Amino acid sequence: MGRGIARRFAAAGAQVAVLDADVDATARGAALTVEEAERDGAPVEVEPAAGLEALVADVDVLIEAVLEDLALKTELLSTIGALASERLVVATNTSSLSVDSLGQAYGRPDRLLGLHFFNPPTRMRLVEVVAGTRTAPEVVREAMAWVEQLGQVPVRCIDTPNFVVNRVCRPLYHESAMLVSAGVPAAAVDAVARAALGHRLGPLELVDRIGLHTHLVSSESAYAELADARYAPVPLVRRLVRAGALGLRTGRGFYDYSDGRKPREAQADVVQTAAPESGASESVGIEVVGAGAARLAGLARSGAEPVTVVSDGGGLDDEHESLVSGLVAEGRAVVVDSSDAAWLPRLPDAAGWVRLHHRGDAWFAERVVDEVASRPAPPTTDVLLRACEATYVDVPAVPGLVADRLADCLVNEATWVVQEGVATPGDVDVALRLGMNHPQGPFELLDRAGSRTVLRRLCAMQAVSGDARYRPSALLRRMAAGTR
Ligand SMILES: NC(=O)c1ccc[n+]([C@@H]2O[C@H](COP(=O)([O-])OP(=O)(O)OC[C@H]3O[C@@H](n4cnc5c(N)ncnc54)[C@H](O)[C@@H]3O)[C@@H](O)[C@H]2O)c1
Repeated sequence: MGRGIARRFAAAGAQVAVLDADVDATARGAALTVEEAERDGAPVEVEPAAGLEALVADVDVLIEAVLEDLALKTELLSTIGALASERLVVATNTSSLSVDSLGQAYGRPDRLLGLHFFNPPTRMRLVEVVAGTRTAPEVVREAMAWVEQLGQVPVRCIDTPNFVVNRVCRPLYHESAMLVSAGVPAAAVDAVARAALGHRLGPLELVDRIGLHTHLVSSESAYAELADARYAPVPLVRRLVRAGALGLRTGRGFYDYSDGRKPREAQADVVQTAAPESGASESVGIEVVGAGAARLAGLARSGAEPVTVVSDGGGLDDEHESLVSGLVAEGRAVVVDSSDAAWLPRLPDAAGWVRLHHRGDAWFAERVVDEVASRPAPPTTDVLLRACEATYVDVPAVPGLVADRLADCLVNEATWVVQEGVATPGDVDVALRLGMNHPQGPFELLDRAGSRTVLRRLCAMQAVSGDARYRPSALLRRMAAGTR
């Protein structure tokens, strides 16, 4: 991280000196920084510093990017504090330690803040600018300006465990592990996250890359600090860590890498394509009814043998149930579009169960197939999926299915973060788009889904599971009530 950050500052025209643990490491680090920049066609000048004392005397800004070890950072910052002038600004690149604690270690908490760069700093544009409780406002303002001068995008937040991106994503990682614990294959969870939510990497593939042990440590610290069920580590993750299944680096995590297979291949295997039978697509009409019909308007078309899609818009009620049973009794082909688990005992055998998503100009579906729960996929679902040329993933009948559970946990956490004054909704959206490459930020997702729908789904999950993970924020409740 240090080499990448040094390159960013040097490329923006700053005079940069680097310092590592000893003289040799410093010389190697400086040479490697210059070499890597040259190899990337963006040469920079970076000097090896003569030592900590000389460095501190010579610079206006010092960026600390040593190992993520509280004892090491505390000792180093207190040494720097003893050497520094009153004007020196120190930025720590910590990803999980408390900026307030590090400010105390430095001794002048008003002159210390967090600058959380993302990996690799030369490519990732986002920088979280973390204001400690006692950081001086002008230091934060200056740091925001530096980040902009680096050609990066600063997002301001206060000192909270995991800051913005990693905090908002923590419930997403937990939820994906909860889905695996409930019997959804890891590849299916990730394939749905990519196809329905447009995530570039599935959450489980990402946790495998981060390392399950690193993820577990961050989860434990967030859980200890924030004392909320939303951060409680998932037992399956603990079990995998104990078994040495730490992810990519040990060849086994949520995925098995032992035969050289990539998660992408496992995900491709679970995605099915419903190609239209020759000439059949024209003859199938699609009628869309129910509270969520507007969302599926693009699906409707006339044809000889209509399939009726009943979309409950995010929550099953008696009206939907009687609509479906009435249509089935008339002998009509019916498919329900919903992620509401309450359909499980109420859906007539002849009706299919899917959750349709529209991305770009294509349809993607989660199709419920669960022999154990007596929910096989009737041929009606094939007819529908073929007619709209959807790609789809078969999922068991877990409450909330996959995409909505993942999206709702992410969105709910974003509203908690805003409610606590950690960051603004606009900044949270920017942070998730740039830090995670998500196509939409959580508040944009919330706008699309509707706050009442998201609230309803979270409350249903909380009721079904009895798990406080799904407890909606007061802000989300106010948004759904239209009072904000
Ligand atoms: N790796 C990431 O994806 C990532 C992303 C964002 C933030 N961070 C944070 O950046 C920091 C560094 O992480 P990294 O992945 O680059 O670690 P790293 O292990 O690759 O590099 C740490 C460097 O610090 C040096 N060092 C150790 N003690 C030192 C001392 N007393 N004085 C000077 N240098 C010393 C080490 O020799 C090493 O070169 C951590 O706080 C980490 O949480 C990492």
